[in-house]
Amino acid sequence: MEILKARRFLPERISVSLLLMVMFSVCGMLEALEMSTGKVPFLEAVNGSDVLLPCSYTSCIGISELYFKWEFNDNGTMVKVMDSMIPTDNAEPVNKRIYRDRVEFMGSSKTNNVSIMIWNVTFEDAGQYTCFGKNRKEMGKNHSAIFTLYVVDELRVVDNTLTIIIVSCVGGGIALLVIFMLLKNFTLFVLAKLEEKNKECLVSSSGIDNTENGLSGSKVTPKPTPKKA
Ligand SMILES: *[C@@H]1O[C@H](CO)[C@@H](O)[C@H](O)[C@H]1NC(C)=O
Ligand SMILES: *[C@@H]1O[C@H](CO)[C@@H](O)[C@H](O)[C@H]1NC(C)=O
Ligand SMILES: *[C@@H]1O[C@H](CO)[C@@H](O)[C@H](O)[C@H]1NC(C)=O
Ligand SMILES: *[C@@H]1O[C@H](CO)[C@@H](O)[C@H](O)[C@H]1NC(C)=O
Ligand SMILES: *[C@@H]1O[C@H](CO)[C@@H](O)[C@H](O)[C@H]1NC(C)=O
Repeated sequence: MEILKARRFLPERISVSLLLMVMFSVCGMLEALEMSTGKVPFLEAVNGSDVLLPCSYTSCIGISELYFKWEFNDNGTMVKVMDSMIPTDNAEPVNKRIYRDRVEFMGSSKTNNVSIMIWNVTFEDAGQYTCFGKNRKEMGKNHSAIFTLYVVDELRVVDNTLTIIIVSCVGGGIALLVIFMLLKNFTLFVLAKLEEKNKECLVSSSGIDNTENGLSGSKVTPKPTPKKA
């Protein structure tokens, strides 16, 4: 009886551990923690405006003591902008420290959002910002994403050049299309002509074959003998 029970339990345990293994490997493939600065990880901001540096995190195994920080790449050296720690899923960050002027934390753990705002940007604020995260559940593996901020002088004549570019692009595109169509038609025409000629050639050559090769046998045309006699 005892042996029978043990045997019955064994396959179940094996399948559970297999399931766990599969889950872990799938998670590993999806990256347990991921930091993201969005689909368009850069922004052009006008001097003096306020900009949001977006960053969010996702984790397929949940978080525990997620340490995150924003860093600014100041000509090669990474300067801390802010850092904090989120104890568990959906808990608000604790120990928020801000190391730069005009910076404010705008995130919310409800939306896995760790974005920051820079008020009244200056030209010195332009550059690369790294959003870094490290989840204790993953034994502190590093993850990060970069957001680039460009600071420009008040409304340059970007609009004008842009419309010119668009207009010339569209115009160029249409011209190319027309040229392409013309070329296509011309090529088709030439091909058709060539084919026609080819057919003619075949027909005439086969005609010549029949008459001059003398293979048809029966019809012997009195060929003038070579001018030799
Ligand atoms: C940038 O903006 C500030 C505040 O509006 C202004 O004082 C400064 O002159 C501006 N700098 C340039 C180069 O336009
Ligand atoms: C940045 O680095 C380059 C070369 O490493 C150096 O020539 C330049 O002076 C630096 N600029 C600032 C603002 O530190
Ligand atoms: C941004 O600049 C405006 C005026 O230019 C000022 O009133 C405001 O306090 C500044 N905000 C910060 C966070 O420095
Ligand atoms: C993060 O929060 C900021 C400020 O509340 C918001 O503007 C931004 O859209 C949020 N980003 C995401 C990805 O939810
Ligand atoms: C992870 O990041 C820390 C700084 O936050 C750094 O000291 C450490 O070398 C990094 N580890 C790896 C494996 O990149």
